[in-house]
Amino acid sequence: PASTARQDRGDLAVGGVPLTEIADRFGTPVYVLDEGEVRARCRTYRDAFPEAEVLYAAKAFLCRAMAHWVEEEGLGLDVCSAGELELAVTTGFPPERIVLHGNAKSPHDLETALRLGVGRIVIDSPSEIARLAAAVGTGGHQRVMVRVVPGISAGGHEKIRTGTDDQKFGLTLTDGYAQHAIARILDQPQLELTGLHCHLGSQITSVKPYLAAVRRMVGLTARLRDAHGVVLPELDLGGGHGIAYRPGEEALDLTTLARKVRAELVESCAAAGLPVPRLLIEPGRAIAGPAGLALYHVLAVKRTADRTFVAVDGGMSDNPRPALYGVRYAPRLIGRHSTAEPAPVTVVGRHCEAGDILASDVRLPGDVHPGDLLAVPVAGAYHLSMASGYNLVGRPPVVAVDRGHARLLVRRESLDDIRSRDVGL
Ligand code: LLP
Repeated sequence: PASTARQDRGDLAVGGVPLTEIADRFGTPVYVLDEGEVRARCRTYRDAFPEAEVLYAAKAFLCRAMAHWVEEEGLGLDVCSAGELELAVTTGFPPERIVLHGNAKSPHDLETALRLGVGRIVIDSPSEIARLAAAVGTGGHQRVMVRVVPGISAGGHEKIRTGTDDQKFGLTLTDGYAQHAIARILDQPQLELTGLHCHLGSQITSVKPYLAAVRRMVGLTARLRDAHGVVLPELDLGGGHGIAYRPGEEALDLTTLARKVRAELVESCAAAGLPVPRLLIEPGRAIAGPAGLALYHVLAVKRTADRTFVAVDGGMSDNPRPALYGVRYAPRLIGRHSTAEPAPVTVVGRHCEAGDILASDVRLPGDVHPGDLLAVPVAGAYHLSMASGYNLVGRPPVVAVDRGHARLLVRRESLDDIRSRDVGL
């Protein structure tokens, strides 16, 4: 009954828990993660790609609970640091289901990966081949993949396009660089090359670039067979599946993606006389993004001749995405029912710079005032995982909601936490 009354007042419940209750109990800013939604999204991937190995890209968001849910749903994990790797493995994630990425893996990253026994390490640069072979040691054995840059432009923003030749990731296909490096990998007895990897970019909303990637990767697989007599059994197409951040936006349809990728793979392999490789995919955003939501309190409202600024108690330190990529969110008023006409406002953060804008020119009820609660939906991916310590405001906590219950997963960063690292004077 209490929650029904809250909903009458314009409240929104996630995972069966009213958001006002979460704000009261845990304070704001706070990130809310819907466990059921994360699990459902994992299952959607399993259902759409039953024959594939689905790896959750931990960079989107990782905490121990997240690793646990993903593991229970039968997914593997894509990590890109010893930190992500160790957090997952110490939570009980089977290391053989983990793939290590990184264009600049540190000695510690490689040592940790080998010590914990990760399933595959993805070689990203030519200099890594000898380094990895030496780390594995004579007589040792490590399964590896190789990251190929397919020369395809795709992705929601220039900064998150990784399929084009002129950038830091991977070995380029178009100039034969990848093939040359792969020949060297095949010469290392302790490295077992299981397949090619490519990651086109992120927030991709069309299936087409994936089909082009399949054709190019199969083409390279055929050339490697012809040149070296090896038939690589795996193909990793990376992640990048786009989601809707605001009502009316298009997400990449996973069923269509799965069907068309499978058809293209079968057709290209048949044409090249190759067996169909086992597929791997690495979605991050599409699993975590829509399952998360950020809650803020309004601290100040300023009406100028040009616009109304609504300032909240978080900002670019917990969500750098609008500042980095010009992404647009759709915040909404929570916890009270307003009859005021919606008016255009710019929602800004509390940080000390003018570019700390969370959402420009969105519509909120005209009577929005300090003390109001705002929710920013689709906040589960690349917010907290990219959070900074700017202005020492402390990183927000993460609360899981599931079937009417809320529980703290990651507590708020306190001044004591910050002070405890500050060891000099
Ligand atoms: N695999 C590899 C090798 C990747 O580099 C990435 C993302 C993924 C998988 C997962 O991509 P997803 O499915 O999440 O799109 N900070 C940016 C996104 C950077 C993505 C980096 N790599 C953002 O906030 O939009």
